Amino acid sequence: MKVIIVKDYEEASHKACEIMLDVIKNNPSANLGLATGSTPIRLYELMREDHKTNGTSYKQIKSFNLDEYFGLDQSHPQSYHYFMCQNLFNELDIDMNNVHVPKGNGDIDEECKAYNQLLEENPIDIQLLGIGSNGHIGFNEPGTAFDSVTHKVDLKQSTIEDNARLFFNGKIEDVPTQAVSMGIANIMNAKKVLLIASGEGKAKAIQATVEGPKTTEVPASALQDHPDCILIVDEAAATLLK
Ligand code: F6R
Repeated sequence: MKVIIVKDYEEASHKACEIMLDVIKNNPSANLGLATGSTPIRLYELMREDHKTNGTSYKQIKSFNLDEYFGLDQSHPQSYHYFMCQNLFNELDIDMNNVHVPKGNGDIDEECKAYNQLLEENPIDIQLLGIGSNGHIGFNEPGTAFDSVTHKVDLKQSTIEDNARLFFNGKIEDVPTQAVSMGIANIMNAKKVLLIASGEGKAKAIQATVEGPKTTEVPASALQDHPDCILIVDEAAATLLK
């Protein structure tokens, strides 16, 4: 695992953008694994700016998101599909047929199977990740097996609370309690992994990910075994690192 410590969120986003654009420029038909949450918002803004200013094209790019809430339609303003359109896709030249976000409704078992198949057929070139304060990646909460693939998840209370802040105007009762998520094995299959962590709320999770034992209690610690994993950590999130 390569840890790059940067000053703050802004610098982390710029560094991450550099790495993403490098992958895209070297392979204009790359498969991107994407994340939602507050962490990638600035990165997505920088990618939109770059597309507008420098014309980087996404016409041949395929995208695969990590996760989606269970019970929300794609058009629901709190769905991750909607989030991705608002924060990234609507301002790129990406073909929406090449955009994939797990479906959070319908026959979930079938949807998980289909998503795993899709990932097998389209190996991810770079997987972007944020990290939960409890060390989760995607919606893989502590205790998730390292060999897990796309599956339905019961969200932990801490994740429901964290997400209420961001997505549901603080209304915990509106946050879905289940989600569909790529598994840890799907994430580990990506050729390159890029995790961004910003803010002191992530310091414990980053310490456990980088310095702790590899344990399913800290899902991100699985990344210790990934052959090409970059962690961009700002000073606040790096405070507990030796
Ligand atoms: C989002 C996701 C989650 C978030 C994590 C951090 O698609 O998979 O694992 O990356 O919960 O969220 P933020 O960035 O809001 O701190």
